[in-house]
Amino acid sequence: MSNSSKILLHQKRLDEIIYFLKPLIPLIDSHMVSFITDDLWHKFVPADLRLEYEETGSPSNVYELFFDSDCLSGNDRLRRFLRKAKSMSTTENGLFYDLDAFDSHLDSLGCKTSDTLKFDKFMCPKKTHEVGAMSRLAADVGRFLKVDTIVDIGDGKGYLSSVLALENRFKVLGIDASPVNSLGAAKRVEKMKKHWKGVRKKMIGADEDKLRVENVVYERCTEFVNDTTDVREIVLRNIGDTSCLGIVGLHTCGSLTSTCLRHFVKTDTFKFIINVACCHHLISQNDFPMSDHLKMASFSLTRNAKMMSLQPISRIIDDGHVKSDPLMYRAVFEHLMDHVLGLANISKPEVGRISAKCSNFVQYARKACSKLDLRLDMTDEEISTYYDTLRVQHESKLKFYFLLRLAVAPVIDNVILLDRLVFLMENGLEETSHVQMFDPVVSPRNYAIISMRL
Ligand SMILES: C[S@@+](CC[C@H](N)C(=O)[O-])C[C@H]1O[C@@H](n2cnc3c(N)ncnc32)[C@H](O)[C@@H]1O
Repeated sequence: MSNSSKILLHQKRLDEIIYFLKPLIPLIDSHMVSFITDDLWHKFVPADLRLEYEETGSPSNVYELFFDSDCLSGNDRLRRFLRKAKSMSTTENGLFYDLDAFDSHLDSLGCKTSDTLKFDKFMCPKKTHEVGAMSRLAADVGRFLKVDTIVDIGDGKGYLSSVLALENRFKVLGIDASPVNSLGAAKRVEKMKKHWKGVRKKMIGADEDKLRVENVVYERCTEFVNDTTDVREIVLRNIGDTSCLGIVGLHTCGSLTSTCLRHFVKTDTFKFIINVACCHHLISQNDFPMSDHLKMASFSLTRNAKMMSLQPISRIIDDGHVKSDPLMYRAVFEHLMDHVLGLANISKPEVGRISAKCSNFVQYARKACSKLDLRLDMTDEEISTYYDTLRVQHESKLKFYFLLRLAVAPVIDNVILLDRLVFLMENGLEETSHVQMFDPVVSPRNYAIISMRL
């Protein structure tokens, strides 16, 4: 398929997703806090879904209604909605690869793929999973494109960079805005070097070269990277060689992903980029959308929508239930502030995450009032009755509302990912893909954007 046909395909996909999302924007942008006080149920749940739910009667387990297909009989509209949302979400659109499929794709390009290094030392299981998969892919792609220096932007404590240097023998430069992190990375790698030989010797494929640590090149630099940063000059200063570089970034927060992609686009000596984004809510208004296509459509996302895209849906499905108490406590407390304490139409301070420390609503209300310096003249029994009355009326609808938003969350994530993909393709970078690199239960921000200059 030619680059222009590929771009058109992806742009069309973006259009479909936006067409699906636009009527749901008010639902996405709403705050669960005001679910009861602002009657969000009637305002923002699509009427057909709301009526179907009310007609079929509230089921005892709303979670099963969403995630157990056997429970969907009699809820055809909800079933259709969920199917549509799933088809619009990251994992189902047929334009992204899973890791095995991407390996086959690399194979077809003539790139040899290798096995993921399995180590259980040096970092926690989540990091081990992420670094194992990402270092393996970066190493395969790096060798294929004859890259010898890799720049890890937003290097943090150097988990990925240290493995790329020690195991994969690239020269690595870690750049991070935080001096504390750069120092942490320096200490970590020294410790790692001490134990490397012993640990690596016990693993397969440990030839002599892989055991030596003296010639490992892993430098760090503390610098805030923005669009005007001269990354090549930093590499020149710290490593010396800038002829053939690769960029990686593992969980680059918010706008840092956009910055990395722009650096990749404008500098030909960067032969590949592999980036896994996180913290979408920190993406600035200037950094979404990136593609001309979405800019022309004047599509944007609020901070709340970007925040919602981060909901770890796979983890919630894995847990098998929704923790609705915190949501219900907060929504009832809002009602209580408006109707008992006379604070309606007044902007209120943040209550914060206090529900984990409360085993019932009475404790929650008392704690919240003390935090906000509010006087609540109600007995425990009165508070309890107040809560129970509202809970009976609203709890299952609140869960439904939460799950409806949750079903849409991966669709927003998909728009953000696809927009970046289209941006790279619009800039002539044909060999660009999204790859599901991590297990979403272990690591919810699990998609990498990978682009290569072949
Ligand atoms: C979520 S952490 C990830 C760290 C590391 N890559 C890892 O996987 O453990 C993001 C890192 O990016 C750094 N960072 C954020 N914005 C940055 C910027 N504009 N320039 C350089 N570093 C940045 C932060 O200091 C932080 O260490």
